[in-house]
Amino acid sequence: MDLSECLNLADFEERAVERMSKMAYEYVASGAADELTIRWNRQAFDAIKLNPTVLNGIGQPDTRLSLFGQELSHPILIAPTAYHKLMHPEGELATARGAGAAAAVYVVSSFTTTPLAEITREATQPLWFQLYVRDDRELTKSLIQEAEDRGFRALCITVDTAVPGVRNRQEKGGFRLPDDVITHHMPGPLDEKKPLTWKDIEWINSFARTPVLLKGILNASDAEKAIQSGASGIIVSNHGGRNLDTVPATIDALPRVADQVNQRVPVLMDGGIRRGTDVLKAIALGASAVLVGKPVCFGLACAGAEGVTKVVEILRTELEIAMILTGRATISGIDHSVIWK
Ligand code: FNR
Repeated sequence: MDLSECLNLADFEERAVERMSKMAYEYVASGAADELTIRWNRQAFDAIKLNPTVLNGIGQPDTRLSLFGQELSHPILIAPTAYHKLMHPEGELATARGAGAAAAVYVVSSFTTTPLAEITREATQPLWFQLYVRDDRELTKSLIQEAEDRGFRALCITVDTAVPGVRNRQEKGGFRLPDDVITHHMPGPLDEKKPLTWKDIEWINSFARTPVLLKGILNASDAEKAIQSGASGIIVSNHGGRNLDTVPATIDALPRVADQVNQRVPVLMDGGIRRGTDVLKAIALGASAVLVGKPVCFGLACAGAEGVTKVVEILRTELEIAMILTGRATISGIDHSVIWK
């Protein structure tokens, strides 16, 4: 596909619709129930206005940051999303190559359709691993150890999926994994009977060798418990509006979590990031970095690795432009004062 037609992230979705099966497109694009949260994730970003700074002398802003002792070129990470072979025949290998070319951390989903061993061979940038804890805790432990042994540099435990959400639209789209698309590290869909609790988080923290982040925290009290249970980081997320419909937009939830955490651990966020200005707003409101889900899936569907790279590069370029126009030379210089009050 000619990627020169894709100037922004919305362009990728428009073109992906034409290239993906209806089933795969509905799987990626849909949210839970009436899809209110998915809509609010966007509306809340749109409602935030920015405060420009003129004549500030900033030429090329510096987007680098350090996270868990890892040096990153920019604060845009690839969110964990399942089943990349539904989106492109090269699946997660293309995502890993695309992330590498865009200097982005790629958080690989537990529901990868490519074995971790193959992904690590393809990667040129740090990989993190997203974990779904299964009833079989021994399997969970060996999966964590495999990821650590293979060099994955952080573990994101998804905590907002005690049960899968009410996915009416996905069901209507006829979601079904083709027989040749295999989730090598997950024995079938999530249908757990032994609920994940804070005790399990403490248990994982007792042997994990990499930083453990909890993904799917939305309020201050859970953020506090996360820290008390030993988490090294928090990801404010509503699972892209796919789990519990009518929970707030993540950009609305972020400031309270960031206030409670008060810099004790890094807070990341995802949900609705579609423009560089969204990245700037998230950082201004307390995020150290952001993750991007659906647009990466659409980039992958449009053009494999190149599509993934271009999605991240567009966001990064837009972020740099927003930094210049708000007078921020560095990521740490992005604070509340970029928001129009
Ligand atoms: C997801 N997400 C997700 N999260 C997770 O922890 N494990 C997973 O396997 C998946 N799978 C998944 C598949 C697809 C198709 C989507 C769209 C999302 C959620 C994801 O990590 C992230 O929280 C949201 O996608 C972020 O919102 P945006 O960027 O899609 O608006």
